[in-house]
Amino acid sequence: MADKSAKLRINDQDYELPILSPTQGPDVLDIRKLYGQADVFTYDPGFTSTASCDSTITFIDGDKGELWYRGYPIEQLASQSNYLEVCYLLLYGELPTTAQMEDFRTRVTRHTMVHEQMHNFFRGFRRDAHPMATMVGVVGAMSAFYHDSTDIGDSWQREVASIRLIAKLPTIAAMAYKYSIGQPFVYPDNELDYASNFLNMCFSVPAEKYKVDPALARAMDRIFTLHADHEQNASTSTVRLAGSSGANPFACIAAGIACLWGPAHGGANQACLEMLREIGTVDRIPEFIARAKDKEDPFRLMGFGHRVYKNFDPRAKVMKESADEVLDLLGVGDNPTLQVAKELERIALEDEYFVSKKLYPNVDFYSGIILEAMGFPTSMFTPIFALSRTVGWIAQWKEMIGDPQNKIGRPRQLYVGSDKRDYVDFSKR
Ligand code: ACO
Repeated sequence: MADKSAKLRINDQDYELPILSPTQGPDVLDIRKLYGQADVFTYDPGFTSTASCDSTITFIDGDKGELWYRGYPIEQLASQSNYLEVCYLLLYGELPTTAQMEDFRTRVTRHTMVHEQMHNFFRGFRRDAHPMATMVGVVGAMSAFYHDSTDIGDSWQREVASIRLIAKLPTIAAMAYKYSIGQPFVYPDNELDYASNFLNMCFSVPAEKYKVDPALARAMDRIFTLHADHEQNASTSTVRLAGSSGANPFACIAAGIACLWGPAHGGANQACLEMLREIGTVDRIPEFIARAKDKEDPFRLMGFGHRVYKNFDPRAKVMKESADEVLDLLGVGDNPTLQVAKELERIALEDEYFVSKKLYPNVDFYSGIILEAMGFPTSMFTPIFALSRTVGWIAQWKEMIGDPQNKIGRPRQLYVGSDKRDYVDFSKR
């Protein structure tokens, strides 16, 4: 795919760098042979200008505010498809036929329960542990429970591991929640669809049946769909890097969950709602906008800004519509948090600082409002993101493992430490 090239001149020596042309997006300079030929590295902390792999899964145009899964725009998938179909699309590259969908649904549904011994494993955690802490541990521990799907060289085992992860993550997230509030675990109900089953495992108790509202299940499903994949973000790159060493899929997904937890990434939905609550009333917004602009103050408006989207986050648009629908449905449209969110968005979108830096609301700005209205505590926001993103992580991991060019990820560095020096004895320091 390299029909163009660029020239790089270092100390009067020219080097030819192939230019790779993607099917979409900017051209990519191929520097793989640069170190061998010119004895230099490239320097790009945060990978702002570096493609770490080629991929056929997800495309983002940050300037236009577009997101496609396997070529299909996110807006169409969010309104016309459903999460399980999107899982199939991400994993296998095409929309399923009716028979393929039924088969996939059956396979996922058959794997929703976790090994009974895992219940004891949960009980080892403190009740006040953050559900993300529990999930990192329990998902990592899946490799200790499902030995028959950890051989990454066996495509059948890779497939079984993928289905297990997609099927069991909602069960594990719901168990982490139930454990944290001291309620008994609720077993999956395979009569229910994927989103309804998750809501049921979170909100039903043995003493009282929980009737899943189809509109809420639809909103939940849409949240899953909107978070399903996002090309080479921090947690996905973590999964790929962990997987590049040959680590088993459960260990890799646990690594992805750990990375997602950070407030600059998946933890932003919790941080955003906490910020909206802290602002509390519309009249306090200017104070927080001023803080966000103050270079001396580390405060940032959570839910604003994105490394890739410099126009708007298309997921945020869909999420905003969902927020309006869900809050109306639940009769909490005048919710003070939503009022603060709407006014904050309006002010920030007109403010010179945010406009010039292209800081728009991201997906996390509205997702927290919906989840709170549904009855989830803030600590569950990031676990819900994690369970939604699991399919994306797996699709990317499978793509990497199946790539004959796959090699262990090993970035280099610009060393700026001390020169070589001799050890000094304690008595002489
Ligand atoms: N509030 C105020 N200022 C901001 C914000 C914000 N939310 N985000 C970026 N800026 C400013 C920075 O201070 C910086 O200003 P400067 O150029 O004067 O120094 C400029 O905008 C660029 O910011 P960077 O941090 O360099 O941008 P980067 O692409 O590295 O960061 C990130 C993207 C991490 C998402 C950032 O915008 C942020 O911290 N946002 C808040 C957290 C958040 O909502 N994260 C969720 C991301 S979406 C997701 O993971 C699903």
